[in-house]
Parts: sequence; structure tokens; C-alpha cells
Amino acid sequence: MNYEEYKKAVEELNRYAYHYYVEDNPITTDEVYDKLYHEVLEYEENNPYQVLDNSPTQRVGDVVSEGFHKAVHKSRMWSLEDVFNEEDLKKWLARVFKLDDRAAFYCEPKYDGASLNLYYEGGKLVQAITRGDGVTGEDITQNARTIKTIPLRIDYMEPIEIRGEVVIFKSEFEKINEERAKNGENIFANPRNAAAGSLRQLDSSITANRNLVFLPYGVGQNTLDIPLLSKKMEFIYSLGFKTPPHRATCKWLLDIEKVYEQMKNDRDSYEMMLDGMVVKVDQVESQESMGYTVKYPRWAVAYKFPAVEKITTVKDIILQVGRSGVITPVAVVEPTNIDGVVVERATLHNFDEIQRKDIRIKDKVIILRSGDVIPKIIKVLEHERAGDEAEVMRPTECPVCGSELLDEGALIKCQNLTCKARVVNSIIYFASKQCLNIDGLGDKIVKALFDSGVVKSVEDIFSLTLDKLLALEGFKEKKSQNLLDAIENVKGCDCWRLINALGIEHIGEVASKSLCENFGLNFIDASKEQIISIDGIGEEMAESVVEFVRVNKEHILRLIEILDPKVPEPKAEAKENPFKAKTIVLTGSMSQSRTEIKEMLESLGAKVSGSVSKKTDMVIYGDDAGSKYDKAVELGVQTLTEDEMRGMLDE
Ligand code: IVH
Repeated sequence: MNYEEYKKAVEELNRYAYHYYVEDNPITTDEVYDKLYHEVLEYEENNPYQVLDNSPTQRVGDVVSEGFHKAVHKSRMWSLEDVFNEEDLKKWLARVFKLDDRAAFYCEPKYDGASLNLYYEGGKLVQAITRGDGVTGEDITQNARTIKTIPLRIDYMEPIEIRGEVVIFKSEFEKINEERAKNGENIFANPRNAAAGSLRQLDSSITANRNLVFLPYGVGQNTLDIPLLSKKMEFIYSLGFKTPPHRATCKWLLDIEKVYEQMKNDRDSYEMMLDGMVVKVDQVESQESMGYTVKYPRWAVAYKFPAVEKITTVKDIILQVGRSGVITPVAVVEPTNIDGVVVERATLHNFDEIQRKDIRIKDKVIILRSGDVIPKIIKVLEHERAGDEAEVMRPTECPVCGSELLDEGALIKCQNLTCKARVVNSIIYFASKQCLNIDGLGDKIVKALFDSGVVKSVEDIFSLTLDKLLALEGFKEKKSQNLLDAIENVKGCDCWRLINALGIEHIGEVASKSLCENFGLNFIDASKEQIISIDGIGEEMAESVVEFVRVNKEHILRLIEILDPKVPEPKAEAKENPFKAKTIVLTGSMSQSRTEIKEMLESLGAKVSGSVSKKTDMVIYGDDAGSKYDKAVELGVQTLTEDEMRGMLDE
């Protein structure tokens, strides 16, 4: 190999590596790569003064430092303000729009890792500095050079700071922890700690072995003349950096919310951990005029995902029997405060899940609480096992009534209709908020009523009397009377509440409402075909209704008699008019309140919606109409003034 060939070979190896690491899309085999790599290595050994600094051999990390040197960023590295809900996001947006009412937004993931500032000059990576306090960080250039998703050279000659997050993929994280456990080392609590720890290794060969990944999210000092951040980032990606798993430009709150929901829902499928979405004003000029507070840019915000993880210990695994008889294993864990809430239990879903995750009593586990969702165990720290952990057997008998269980694989069911757990839970469900909403009839009271024998079924609730209640322990006059009043109050309830309260499999609140709107109480006589014809109700749901009614008709009829539910009036068909069956959005101030105009339009058979989309047929606007009007124009939706609307009505 001569020098020219050597240079070509280095280029070729870098091209292979780029496709492999950055694009996730290899263009050759490991064998071809390794062969060329060794040829390059051999050439370099014979010609040590000709070694190119972007040769892949320079990424191996053979530098051991005594310590890191402090280094100053060319321009400051900022933090981000956090928001945790839509309301706070709205407030942030309002502040932004006040500064620039034409602001648009670039949304990308908030990666959970360690931030790093790369400085390129003359197209070469010259320095990599950790964030530090934002002004000064540590020079870890030797380590950064081992990260294969950091180009050592870029095709851009001006000085530029490229900033991003160094992360460890979840799969890699598990491998590292396994390895550490095998070697008797402490395992990393999460990928973020693993990334940060790996970046600050004095021995760069350790960093090299960790398969860190760099994801760019912005630029510091630069002379790029690109007016939009989104376009700037596209340029940065094109220099050989990795792109985010999801990115979008948005104009409206609704668009931002949509991207957020999508990212939040998809994030389990991403290779790296995210802890939120970052929303940034897209126009660079606008960013500059908005400026910074002491800590944050005014033009960016981190919209956090509601998830937090902690390590805890499984104390026990107990079995719960639901109203449908399904047995759910639940882990009782060492009480752990997660983001202000003390978590004591975590759902295990079913026995297949316990087996899949190999969860044992006394195991140390990582537990995740996200939003209002019941906490779940996401991982067992197997390397922390002492050896006395106990496996959990699949149950064969109902833990409550003792009857034999039906094991269907994913689900294990108690089939005894009179099993106490099933009855008590169906009564609790019947009285719950989303069903009949009987105040004061919660878990404890239902259990007490059942144990004393006064309430053995849902119908028994309605034959409770003051005497019966007063005879029970803990029931004073006032409490008893309140309960009786609450029960009396649910008579005349909306019909959908009764349908929902029946607890028909696959039928929740939404389906109950549609059944009620379409059939009223006659849903009990509806055929499967008639039920399927309802929008949003499928075959399985329809079958479930028909079967439930077949088995429980007498029971339903008695409940109807007791409750006398209210059935919605069938809507009178509106006369022909220009607004009938149209989807309309109202905006701006009008001569009457918008609610009044909305009701008027609805009485004409229109559907009045809150936001403009392609499905909108018309936007009717008053004074000071804002973004909804603009969006209508943008989408080519018909727009009408209030007067024009009234004119059409008069005609
Ligand atoms: S932008 C000028 N974008 O979050 C704004 N930061 O809480 C500065 N981070 O120190 C940061 N993903 O380490 C930005 N897409 C992203 C990010 C991101 C992760 C980290 C970064 C920063 C911290 C701020």
C-alpha cells in the first residue's frame, strides 16, 4: 500500500463506519471492514509520521490521562426550562408569541445523557468539552474521538461548535451492566449515569468500549447563514451526524401536542432514553431577539415526559381477583418515593410477564411510574441477587374462594360467579365515578357491607335502609343517611352510566355512550348487526353486549326498574340549510357569545369544533380573529364573517 492508497483506504473505512454507526445501515460486511482496517494499521505501523488524524485507528482510545483539563466554551452552554403539562406549555407559548407572534417551532427529543460541545476548525475536530457549568467544562477530546458517531472531520471549514448529547443505547446499557456485575463492579442505575461515567474515563480505551452515541441538538459559536434552526440542523446532520428518531416543525399548540404524544408513546421503541421533548423557536433571528434569562433561553423549553424510575425491592407478590375473575399478580415493594408519590405496589399484569422478566420475591427491581399509570417493574437487577430470592408459581386455586382456576395462558381466571372478590369488585365498579358515581360507596364500605351480609349483589344496594346500616359497626346516623341519600340520588341517572356500570367486557364509557345515544334502553333488544352498525363499535364488542344481555336480561331489567335511567331525546332532524352537517369553527368576538352561536348552529345540524383542520368546512370569524383564521386561510378552508353567516341564514 502506498500513501495515496492509504488515504483512500482511510476514506473508505470512514464511509463504511458512517453507514454502520450513523445511518444504522451497513454497506459492507465486518469481514471486509476488518481486512481493510488491518491493512491500514499495518501501513501506519510502518509509516508512523503519516498517520491521518481521521483514521479509524485513532478512535481506539489508547490515551490514559492523569486528569482532565478545564476548557472554556466559545459561547455559553445553556440549560432548558422544564414544563410538565399542557397548561404550562401554553403559558410558555403565550410568552413566546408576545415576543414574536409569527414564531414557529422545531421539536426534537430531549435525550437523557450527558451534553458535549464539539469544536471543529478547518473541518477537523479539535476539541470536545463537557458542559460543566456552561461556561467552563472538561476537555475530553481523547474520549470523544473514540465515539464513532462523532465525525473526526467534516466537510465545512469555518469554525463551529456543534452541541449534542452523548447517550448509551438501552441494549448496550444492559450489556454493560451484565458485564460489570460479572466482574463484581457496581451496576449503573440508568443509561444517563452510564453515559456520563463513560465519557469521563481517564483511560480512553474504556470509553471506546462503551459504544457511546452522539446526537447533535444545536450549535454554539458559528457563522452559518441559515435563517431556520430546523434547516441549520439538517445541515449539521448532513455533515455526518446522527439524526433524531423523530423531529418536526410545528406552528400551533395542537401540532406540538401531537408530536409530543407521538414521541411519548413511541419512546419505548427508541434505542435511546428520552425524558421529554424540546420545543425551540425555529427562526434564528427571533431566537436572538428573545434572548436569555439568567439560566435559560427564552426561545426553548423542555416539555418533560411524566416518567420516573427508582430501584426498590419486591417484598411479596400477591394475587388480586378482578370483577371478571381475572387473577392479576401484584408486586408489593419496599415503599419508594417517586416524584412525590409513595409507591408500594406495582402491577405485574399476568404470569407470563413474571416469567418473561423472571421476577422473584426479594429481587431488586427498577420500577417506573409514569403519569397516573399504575407503577410497573421494568427490570430485575439480576446481578444483585443474593441467592435466597423466591420464584413465584402459577396459581391453580383462587386465592379468595379456593375454587379451581382456569389457566388460559396469558390470563388465569376464577370462574366462580359468587367468588367474594368478583362480587365485591363488581359492586365497587358499579358505584365508581365513571359508572353510577355513588358518593361514599368506596372499597372499604363495600367490603364492610358485603362481610356483614347486607349487600350480596349490586341490587341489594337499593334495599339498604337506615336500620340495616345502623346495625353495622362504624355506621353512625349521619354517615348512614348520607349514603342512603347518595344511593337515592342516582335514580334517574343518564342511561349510559347504567350501561357502563354493568361491566360488560370490552364496553367502556365511550361505547356505553354510543349505545345509549343509538338505542337508549332498547339496547337490550338490539341485534349484533344493529350494534355493529354504530360508529366505533366492532364485532367483538357487539358480541360481548349480546351475550351479556342474553345471560343477564332479568338483572338488567330489574336495575332499569330501580334506576329509571334518563334516555337522551332523539335529535330532531334539522331542516335543509347551508350549515347542516358542516364542521364549523368559530373564532374572534361576535355580537353574541360564542356559546350562543354554537348552540344556534348545532340546532341547524352543524358540528362546531374547537380547532381548524383539513376536515373543517368553514371558519366563522368575528373581530380580532387570530391564528384559527390564519390557519383556515392557509388550509384553504372557507371563511365567513358573522354578518355573512347571518345573511346566509336569512336567505
Ligand atoms: S438544547 C439552548 N436540546 O438537556 C438550549 N438540550 O436541560 C440548550 N438535552 O444541557 C439545550 N436533549 O444536555 C437541548 N434536544 C435537546 C436536548 C438537550 C438533551 C440536554 C442538554 C442540556 C440539558 C438542559
